[in-house]
Amino acid sequence: MSRIVYLNGEFLDENEAKVSIFDRGFLMADGVYEVTSVINGKLIDFDGHAVRLERSMKELMMDSAISKENLLEVHRQLIVQNNLNEGMIYLQITRGSPNDRDFVFPDPKEVKPTIVLFTQSNSNMVQNPKAKIGMKVVSIPDERWGRRDIKTVQLLYPSMGKMIAKSQGADDAWMVEDGMVTEGTSNNAYIVKDDSIITRELSNDILHGITRAAVLRFANEAQMTVEERNFSIEEAKNADEAFITSASTFVMPVVNIDGVDVGTGKPGKIAARLREIYLEETLKTAI
Ligand code: PDD
Repeated sequence: MSRIVYLNGEFLDENEAKVSIFDRGFLMADGVYEVTSVINGKLIDFDGHAVRLERSMKELMMDSAISKENLLEVHRQLIVQNNLNEGMIYLQITRGSPNDRDFVFPDPKEVKPTIVLFTQSNSNMVQNPKAKIGMKVVSIPDERWGRRDIKTVQLLYPSMGKMIAKSQGADDAWMVEDGMVTEGTSNNAYIVKDDSIITRELSNDILHGITRAAVLRFANEAQMTVEERNFSIEEAKNADEAFITSASTFVMPVVNIDGVDVGTGKPGKIAARLREIYLEETLKTAI
């Protein structure tokens, strides 16, 4: 069944939505994106995603393209028009389509950004069977650019990371720089040792995950110990538990790193508890 998507102010059948070959997203990966999850037809952490989108655009010297109120309305319309109960809304804003290829940014007064949103239905997000068995990850060097705090559409290296993981029978890759884990290819990385939740501190080295912020807030409220610091792959292999967070996986246990079982090799109790708390609490504020 074809979807109704949003392109530059219009709701269109997905087959009718067309973007120029000169679009800078296509030619230069000159664009930003957000992925917002939908549960029971409601948006999870919409505000956080909208704020991060504005920040990403500002960091790339892109003018604001759509107000938060309009953006919310577009998200809502897409949910209604596609009858979306559970899944995600993907949003991408590029620096637009000048009439040629040029490294120099086009004048924003002349070239308007390209705004695309579409839904992805997935009825297995809450009841994801992986949450019961956990994921396997492999480590790879982090070879991305230095501004990973900006959510750009340059996803070739993360895609390659997922392919490397797949070729080794794993589910995902954790990236390592100067001996320390930065993050997963499309998620933030955590370990648990002696009941303490350890995750890398925020900087330009990682994406400032919206799910990360919520999970750490809920962990603090539940009086759990949180340490925001670097950790190595060796430390992760010797941890009691490991897990990831993202808008598409929520909290997902990691049970094996580079072929070594983490803890018992089964999902840990802290990851399971955090997944439960996250889903419970976040649904209260879903809009
Ligand atoms: N990825 N780190 C990276 C590199 C990511 O791409 C993502 C999200 C995260 C988690 O951020 P958040 O909690 O805000 O989703 C961390 C999305 C889900 C994706 O690319 O599909």
